[in-house]
Amino acid sequence: MDDTETKLNLGCGPNSAAGWLNYDWGVLPLLSKMPWLRKTAITLRLLPAYYEAPWPKIQLVDIRKRLPLRDGSMEFIYCSHVLEHFDRWEAVRVLKECHRCLRDGGIMRIVVPDIVKMFALYQEAARQPASAGGEPRPARDLCRLWWGFSTDEDPGGFFGKLSRWFMRHHRWHYDRRELELLAKEAGFGRMVVCDFRQGSVSDLETLDYEAHKPHSIYVEVSK
Ligand SMILES: C[S@@+](CC[C@H](N)C(=O)[O-])C[C@H]1O[C@@H](n2cnc3c(N)ncnc32)[C@H](O)[C@@H]1O
Repeated sequence: MDDTETKLNLGCGPNSAAGWLNYDWGVLPLLSKMPWLRKTAITLRLLPAYYEAPWPKIQLVDIRKRLPLRDGSMEFIYCSHVLEHFDRWEAVRVLKECHRCLRDGGIMRIVVPDIVKMFALYQEAARQPASAGGEPRPARDLCRLWWGFSTDEDPGGFFGKLSRWFMRHHRWHYDRRELELLAKEAGFGRMVVCDFRQGSVSDLETLDYEAHKPHSIYVEVSK
């Protein structure tokens, strides 16, 4: 590890900012290192076309295990739309590792789908009358947000089914209270709820991803 790197993006996916150390793990990040194979997977419809977007430079690290970082070496940790893909006990383990790696006064920003906002979106959509564009489908839309992908759509043949192997659905969900309990269990003290692109972690204009905004909760916990 480069000792000058003090900002870590956990489960970065294709989204990161300059100067951040990026960890991700699985078939998709592996493919990100092999653009020709990724292109082939998209052509064969193994992957949706939006996976064509280039990824930042990443390290393949399974963040459920011990992170390859020294104690107290990080100033900021950013983790967006990742923890909900883990069982709760795994999320506690990830946060404990983050706590170990943060320096005193260091800050971790967590972004996850917010149960409250997901249900508010459902209720808002359920109040809408049918429009020229067709019937609103609030229950379907909620299910897609809840599980993290469109399980209503037939994966369509061999390649479609294979593509499901690339995706991990959501395994646990959070509201403010549940996040507070999680952070406390991992050793963090005070938790601050933030707005989209507002907070103490750097580069939020780039890191906080617009598409997550309507249904996400943004919090920062410090060591
Ligand atoms: C829904 S994407 C979120 C990507 C990005 N952070 C964002 O906000 O859009 C979840 C990411 O977590 C990564 N991930 C899932 N399990 C992981 C693990 N065990 N170790 C590291 N990364 C993991 C996935 O590969 C994927 O890039």
